[in-house]
Parts: sequence; structure tokens; C-alpha cells
Amino acid sequence: MAAKDQILLHLEKRKGDWISGESLTRKLAVSRSTIEKHISQLMNDGYPIESSPKKGYLLQKTWDVLTPREIRDGLETKVLGKRDIVYFTEADSTNTKAKDLATKHAPEGALVLSEKQTRGRGRNERNWFSPSRDGIYLSLILRPTIPPREAPMLTLLTAVAVAEALLSLTRLKIAIKWPNDILVGGKKLAGILTEIGTQEDSTDYVVVGLGLNVNTPRFPDDIRDKATSILIETGKRLSRVRIIREYLKWYEAYYEVFKNIGFEPIRKRWRELTNMIGQQISVQMIDKRYSGEVQDIDKDGALIITDRTGKSHRIIFGDVTVI
Ligand code: BTN
Repeated sequence: MAAKDQILLHLEKRKGDWISGESLTRKLAVSRSTIEKHISQLMNDGYPIESSPKKGYLLQKTWDVLTPREIRDGLETKVLGKRDIVYFTEADSTNTKAKDLATKHAPEGALVLSEKQTRGRGRNERNWFSPSRDGIYLSLILRPTIPPREAPMLTLLTAVAVAEALLSLTRLKIAIKWPNDILVGGKKLAGILTEIGTQEDSTDYVVVGLGLNVNTPRFPDDIRDKATSILIETGKRLSRVRIIREYLKWYEAYYEVFKNIGFEPIRKRWRELTNMIGQQISVQMIDKRYSGEVQDIDKDGALIITDRTGKSHRIIFGDVTVI
């Protein structure tokens, strides 16, 4: 094992405690300057290590950095996150970065992660609140052989994968809201932004962005009533690395189903994970608004509602408000 990894292992074992430089030199049988060089590399990688001339080095107890090494360690996927992982301590938007990489031939399964976003984007030109190290801001690059009109199905697939990951790691009562929200108690815990690149009539790439509020202690006034985090809901911090690994595992499983069997099994699971069916909603589309009762999502993932007159409407894009 490389010296840098060994140092990290020792620091991890004694997380929250000081380890003297002398004891590290003894354990690794290397010089003091080698230890210092590796420690400063680890710090550059984003590890929250404190250093004191008298006490030595300390890896913060609450550390949870999203470096490629952390994500890959224990990752149970075959493709997603196994190849390229591009990590930023700060980025404008992981979706913007991922789209850029996708046009430069990044492979399927490439992952872009950032500890913070300065221009995190939501649907309809909204901002996505992306404070440093509190949330998960990641984008997956996919290259499915589907016509562009099927790309919205991947948003629903993503919502199912997020919900499954959260259900296996927490006891939160998760509900999916069409098309791209994950809610707890009616408040938004996560959002999905799917963007697609086409070449003539076919799909070149799909970038699926996920913003998930994990350890965010509070939100700005304008979104305080609408947004929540795992920390706020459970009172406990959860490792973002664990969530990402779990998410990628579920994602890969459902993505395989999607490619080999089709959308139907995902639609079935989506219906179990939503609480929208039977609810009265209002949908704002670009040029009109419909109100009515949610009946279902159809085989393409479109929302089916019936209005007061009993007329059925098929919604493929819109902003939903539950009445
Ligand atoms: C929404 O609910 O409107 C979608 C929010 C999506 C936010 C994520 S954070 C990671 C990725 N990069 C972005 O700029 N947006 C998505």
C-alpha cells in the first residue's frame, strides 16, 4: 500500500485523535518530510486534517469528503462510478461540468461531484441551494440507446433509485413527487435535473443531476418552508459517501432493468413510492394550467390527471402543486 494510503488508514483508525509525526514515521519507516509531503497532499485532496507542530496530525471526526477514493472504496457497482470520477471542492454546477465532459466523450457511468456549487441549477431556471459539504451535488453521465423522447423516464428512474437508497439507510417516510422531487413531510429533500444531448434524432448523452440535502442545518428564509434535510428530519448527520454508494448501487440495478426489460418495472415501483395518486393537483405548463385528480403515470412516464369535467389530460412537462 502506498505511503499516503497508509497514513490515511492510521489517521482514520484514530479519527478525532492526534497522532504524532514521530509515531507515523516509525509506523511507516519513512522520513518526517515524506510524512509532511503526503499529509499536505491529503489536505489538498479535501481531507480535513489538522496539523500542529507539537501534537502532530488529526483527521476530523466528522469528516465526510467525496473524493473519488472515498466513493470507490466499497462501491458495489460494475459501471457507475467505476471509471471516471471527477471531483471538485467547488464548481459552478456539476450538471454543467458533466455536459461539458459528455461532449468530450466521457464514458457511460462517469460521475461528477462537487462539495459546493456556486451556480447550482434546478428546473425552470431555479437555483439549487448548494452549501459546502452539507449536501450531495452530483451528476451522472449516461449514454443509453433510447430516443430523446424517452429521456424523461430516466428522471423517474432516478427518483426511484434515490428513494430506495434513502429507504435502505434511514427510516424517513420518503415520497416521490412527479417528475423530479423527493419529499419528506411535504418538504423537498432532493431534486433531479435531467439534461440531454442529441445528435440528429438520437440521444448522445443524458446527464442526470442529483441535489440531496443531507447535513444542511438550516435553509435561507425564502426556501425554509419548502426544503428539508436528513439532519433536520432525523437530528443525525449521515455520511454522504454512504448515500452516494447506495444510490449508485440502486441506480445501476434499475438502469439494467430499464435497458433489458424496459420502463414498466420502474413505473410499478414508482407508483408504490409516490403518494400523488388520487391527490388534487394543479400543473403549470409553459402556456396553460390544468387542475385535477392524479390518476396514474402512463407507460412513458407522463402524468395522467382528470379534470372536474372528467376529461383526462396527459402531462409530459410541468410544475406540480398539490392542492
Ligand atoms: C430541481 O429540483 O429543480 C432539480 C435540482 C437539481 C440540483 C442538482 S445539484 C447537482 C446537479 N447540478 C446542478 O446544477 N443541478 C443538479
